[in-house]
Amino acid sequence: MPITTLIIPVQRIIPVMDQKAQDLIAAKRAAGFKAADMIQDGMVVGLGTGSTVYYLIERLAERVRDGMQVSGIPTSFQTAIRAREAGIPLTTLDDHPVIDVAVDGADEVDPKLRLIKGRGAAHLREKCVAGAARQFIVVVDEQKMVKNLNAQVPVEVLPFAIMPVMAQLRELECEPVIREAVKKDGPVITDNGNFVVDCKFSAIKNPEKLEAAIAAIPGVVESGLFCGFTKKTTVIVGGIKKCTVIASPDIVT
Ligand code: 5RP
Repeated sequence: MPITTLIIPVQRIIPVMDQKAQDLIAAKRAAGFKAADMIQDGMVVGLGTGSTVYYLIERLAERVRDGMQVSGIPTSFQTAIRAREAGIPLTTLDDHPVIDVAVDGADEVDPKLRLIKGRGAAHLREKCVAGAARQFIVVVDEQKMVKNLNAQVPVEVLPFAIMPVMAQLRELECEPVIREAVKKDGPVITDNGNFVVDCKFSAIKNPEKLEAAIAAIPGVVESGLFCGFTKKTTVIVGGIKKCTVIASPDIVT
């Protein structure tokens, strides 16, 4: 057999990532890096969760290796593991009840800087950390910017109360679905030992009102609607060539 017939083109072994996927990674990376470069020496930083925060951690770790001092508060086991492996010193909300800044991703951002979060089921700790922060930096790619919030709203629920909570969520006119795990049979169990219910609303006309109504159901631990932080929020929208920074008018720079 001639030797050439044994050579298999690399593309047939390693699937080539399409241009759209590469651009998305570039956008997330740009946003994550930009946020990391806004962190100042000595800060206590809330570390969000997800694929955009992944790049924040990468760049922050580089800066720590270059001598910058920061302490991170992770919002999930995923982030704690990654930050520790990257060499970012970690601390807790017990030691720092008020922190300088939290950086996190989002699933949707509207023009008033209200968010839907929780694709990764980490929104409970993410909300606690964002709430403790003086500044909240949200890192997203352009696809996340929407006119009206419309994604499904994740709701973390105490397993004991799952059925009454589902019934009361239906009264808010949504279709609640218990999130199923992928590499485990049965429901997703959050880092806090709870279930997640994804709620698809036909329209979210008043996000603040909906966030309050969901929070009022006994057994709901937290929803992925983030409407209370707009005044301290800066959104970094990553693009392939540049990032756009949208700061709340209430933030004095
Ligand atoms: C996890 C989250 C994430 O921050 C959000 O889903 C965005 O993730 P990604 O940057 O991977 O798109 O809320 O619960």
